[in-house]
Amino acid sequence: MKILEIALIFALDLVVFAQLTTSWNYNPGLFFPYVVHHPLPAQVTGQVESTSYQEEAVNRVPSCLREFKYTSQRLDETAIDIQTVKKELEKLSATSQNLAKTMVTIWILTTTNLEESLKRSAESLKQLAETNSVIANLKKELSESVKDVAVMKTKIAELTTELKASTSATSIGRMPTSCQDLQETGHVKSGINFILGNKSIETVYCDFTKLPIEADFQILIGSSDVKSAPTYFSVQKNNSFSAVGIPIHFEISKVNTGEAMEIASGIFTTPRSGTYYFSFIGLAEFPSSPDFVYVELGLFLNGDVVGTGYASNSRNADFKFNQIALQMTLNLRNGDRVWLQITDVSDGVALRDANNQHYTHFSGFLLQEDLA
Ligand SMILES: *[C@@H]1O[C@H](CO)[C@@H](O)[C@H](O)[C@H]1NC(C)=O
Ligand SMILES: *[C@@H]1O[C@H](CO)[C@@H](O)[C@H](O)[C@H]1NC(C)=O
Repeated sequence: MKILEIALIFALDLVVFAQLTTSWNYNPGLFFPYVVHHPLPAQVTGQVESTSYQEEAVNRVPSCLREFKYTSQRLDETAIDIQTVKKELEKLSATSQNLAKTMVTIWILTTTNLEESLKRSAESLKQLAETNSVIANLKKELSESVKDVAVMKTKIAELTTELKASTSATSIGRMPTSCQDLQETGHVKSGINFILGNKSIETVYCDFTKLPIEADFQILIGSSDVKSAPTYFSVQKNNSFSAVGIPIHFEISKVNTGEAMEIASGIFTTPRSGTYYFSFIGLAEFPSSPDFVYVELGLFLNGDVVGTGYASNSRNADFKFNQIALQMTLNLRNGDRVWLQITDVSDGVALRDANNQHYTHFSGFLLQEDLA
């Protein structure tokens, strides 16, 4: 702008001087090339000049005129040039101004846009910061959730293991003999249970809310009448029998559950270890003579007499025995053999029996099976 101004002032000066040169006579010494030297009549100046000077002056006029003409022509050209330059400068000025205006407009717009952009950027930054904060919180929450999930996974695995353990089949490797054994196999609900006692199945109440060392943890209710092989028989004879040294056999079987009694041989074979009860009753028939007669029979276990029955008759008051009943309870083992046998008898004496009489009975049954 400064350069433009200086150029403009300089140009204006030139224009002003150009306008004045034709009329203004000022200090011709200084502006020689541009000042018009009018011919000076002698009377005007009143000066008396020497001949040589005058001659010289006359000789010099044509060259001055030429110079003047030339100078005037150059001034005209210069003026035209200046006009051209002026126009150019004006155009340039206008262009510059437009340019400046445009630049200012652009600058304003740019500045406005920039400010808005900055404002927006600031807002965006703020939002970004908020978003970052939210993301950071979410990350934290997520990491906590991940931790929670890991903890839950572990817990679920533990629960699954517990559930599997509590629902899968368990065993202590033998039959439970106490409430504590039942507890070890997973029983948790208090109630009445069966356990294996010393010999039989026992019924107990287990209170699993108590400790095994507490008295009420296990209460015995009683033995359970559990038999793996129910065994009982009742047989009769259908005729009289007097043979000595052989098992008394039977003809009639009223009951023979378990088929432990073989009536044809009269031998009972123990099917299960346990406690058995046997009962015999018979009628001895005596002849009228001799004076003293008797019959003796035994209950045999594997060939040994374990019980004896006896009956006698006599005219002698000192010898009168009529008992001929025999009951016994025996602990037997699996495979033991039991039978009745007359061990001694007088001639003519027999166990009396006949069709539709049935005085002779032999019964037996399993009281308690040994299950242990
Ligand atoms: C089982 O036998 C043991 C030892 O012989 C005895 O102490 C216990 O009382 C018995 N249990 C039952 C229920 O009879
Ligand atoms: C018992 O013996 C009589 C004959 O003495 C016979 O008729 C009857 O069938 C026998 N009863 C049985 C159950 O064997």
